[in-house]
Amino acid sequence: MNVKEELARRAAEVEAYLADCLRGRDIPQRLLASMEYSLNAGGKRLRPALVLGFVRLNVGQGSGLGRKFLPFAAALEFIHTYSLIHDDLPAMDDDDLRRGKPSNHKQFDEATAILAGDGLLTEAFSLMFSCVDEACPTAERVLRAAQAVSVAAGAGGMVGGQALDMEYTARTDVSFEQLRDMHAMKTGALITAACVAGAILAGAPVADVRRAREYGCAVGQAFQIADDILDVTSDSATLGKPAGSDERQGKTTYPSLLGLEESRRLAAERAADAVRHLEPYTGAEADFLRALARYIVERVH
Ligand code: IPE
Ligand code: IPE
Ligand code: MG
Ligand code: MG
Ligand code: MG
Repeated sequence: MNVKEELARRAAEVEAYLADCLRGRDIPQRLLASMEYSLNAGGKRLRPALVLGFVRLNVGQGSGLGRKFLPFAAALEFIHTYSLIHDDLPAMDDDDLRRGKPSNHKQFDEATAILAGDGLLTEAFSLMFSCVDEACPTAERVLRAAQAVSVAAGAGGMVGGQALDMEYTARTDVSFEQLRDMHAMKTGALITAACVAGAILAGAPVADVRRAREYGCAVGQAFQIADDILDVTSDSATLGKPAGSDERQGKTTYPSLLGLEESRRLAAERAADAVRHLEPYTGAEADFLRALARYIVERVH
């Protein structure tokens, strides 16, 4: 399997949904333009792929549940996109390029970018809950999955991790444990929630939800270590965001603390852990998720 092509194929499905899911809504024109600008600027669409991947892993390809939960998967992309818009703001990482285009606050203005983020976050909940319809036999699953996503996106998860990231900026005394835990919150929590939500939506038993969580934690760590490495080794054109941003901002990262070689080793180790957590599964979806974990540390953007 060519995992990069498969991920792109799945991303295209999500993008078709994202492209017009806000259409026809009574949203002020400039705010809507700003939300759609960032939402439709591309991106790997990893988090939706994880939601739907874990749905399919636990119920099988032919169930049709993948389509039913497309809005739920899209909600994870709404939350992720909001986090990127706010992450780029002058008060945070102050980056002018995102997904190969001017950052939201550069294309629009700071107030609009803040509100676009607020709008995307809030609309994400509407999308998740839209999966509960009258005839839905899975309403309770949707509620439990949405609960997991809320906790992960919130102050004890992604937002908390971003707060620690800011607190640690320009400091030289950040320990490995602090860095690891900050990564687990700012990036790992939402990635883990995507996996867990997929398993819950599929009605997976507790042991499989646990495996989804363990895979997600490992992938989340590997993913942010790779992000830190690429910030040092790649260029802005390839990344679609400013290379060297971490050093410029005085961020403590895996490469700055441990060097590139040890960072690469740890990223690969965490990807291997993720693969190991999926050992009990066979079939095409398990193969995709295993390949995805490996791809995350080999990616070039
Ligand atoms: C970037 O996320 C921010 C991090 C959490 C490291 P992605 O690398 O998933 O960004 P896109 O969605 O592909 O643009
Ligand atoms: C951001 O981490 C994590 C988020 C929750 C958005 P980074 O600040 O390293 O992400 P990039 O490198 O700007 O995409
Ligand atoms: Mg940041
Ligand atoms: Mg950043
Ligand atoms: Mg980064």
